[in-house]
Amino acid sequence: MTKKIVILFSGEGSNFENIVNKLHNKEFDGNKIIVSGAICNKSEANGLIRAKKLKIPVVLIDHKKFSTREEFDKTVVDTITTFGCDLAVLAGFMRILTPVFTKNIKAINIHPSFLPYCKGSNGIKDSYYSDIGFGGVSVHWVNDGVDDGAIIDQKKVLIDKGETLEYFEAKIHAIEYEIYPSAILKALKIDI
Ligand code: GRF
Repeated sequence: MTKKIVILFSGEGSNFENIVNKLHNKEFDGNKIIVSGAICNKSEANGLIRAKKLKIPVVLIDHKKFSTREEFDKTVVDTITTFGCDLAVLAGFMRILTPVFTKNIKAINIHPSFLPYCKGSNGIKDSYYSDIGFGGVSVHWVNDGVDDGAIIDQKKVLIDKGETLEYFEAKIHAIEYEIYPSAILKALKIDI
């Protein structure tokens, strides 16, 4: 069986690249994963260059060209459907989604904190400067809330004494690259 995923990103696209390298065109328990396309909402995103190198079709949908979130989401939903998609994978896609998206698309997201701690756009920094002493990485289903859906997989990352923010950030990204590909397979109900 073939399972298609579409990846959405806004910036660097390092998770996007990691997922393509680890899953695209590969078979897991009799299921071939195809990254059928990618969507980006920012013209200056480095991920667009990565997409070209990886030869993954990518569509730029600039949110600034839409007057409402719903109109933007409708175009995103239509594009995902045109690519063909069993699961949409948000990888640093920095948009709040409306029910136009969440009611129509089965999607998962990665968040750089140990949810429910430190939701929002500064998960790494907020964890680093908080009193809890740890951060983490969480992969969760997308619902109407922000960083709110049921957890698929998560890992705690301790903040060692004297560790710089940059070092902590690198540790978080390394864990992201480790757990997102396997969480995608889990969400697709593929045994590994
Ligand atoms: C990651 O830390 C991800 O958890 C967060 O945004 C960042 C995206 O990084 N949602 P990249 O674009 O994949 O390099």
